[in-house]
Amino acid sequence: METLVKNIIRKKLLTVSLLLIAVIGSAFLYQQKEWKAPASADAKKNPLTADAATLAAGKTVYVKECQSCHGKKGKGDGPSAKDLDIPAGDFTKAITQSQSDGALYWKISEGRKPMPSFKKKLNETQIWQSIVYMRTLKQ
Ligand code: HEC
Repeated sequence: METLVKNIIRKKLLTVSLLLIAVIGSAFLYQQKEWKAPASADAKKNPLTADAATLAAGKTVYVKECQSCHGKKGKGDGPSAKDLDIPAGDFTKAITQSQSDGALYWKISEGRKPMPSFKKKLNETQIWQSIVYMRTLKQ
């Protein structure tokens, strides 16, 4: 009888511990802050230059697909930003602007929740155009 009770308690303790580990583990994952593109992404070079036509095209992509979260000036203050679980970042800052075009390309293509993946929605040229436009948001 006594061993039965002990066994039950032991099993309950095990369940509780496993639950705790799961909760702490997911909280840890959720907290992951830094979003890093793989080093190999840097090798991909932007084929476009910042001429007037490219900038205009980039602005069109940005206004349509990105501005709702990232904001008119890239400060992460678009109208949808308040509904996001995490901030959309601030493109005027060095933390974004210091990344290579290839790294930004990778992030825009892949996305990371709640940032959508654009590799199916936009073609390569449109993604590069949006990056050329993003560079003008630098402070
Ligand atoms: C639904 C809202 C939303 C939309 C729409 C959106 N983004 Fe994002 N974006 C985010 C969020 C949130 C992050 C931060 C993600 C993270 O850190 O995990 C982010 C991060 C980024 C980053 C990484 C910034 C950095 O400093 O590393 C880039 C680049 C980016 N977005 C570009 C774009 C572009 C270009 C578009 C449009 C083609 C776009 N985003 C559309 C929400 C959005």
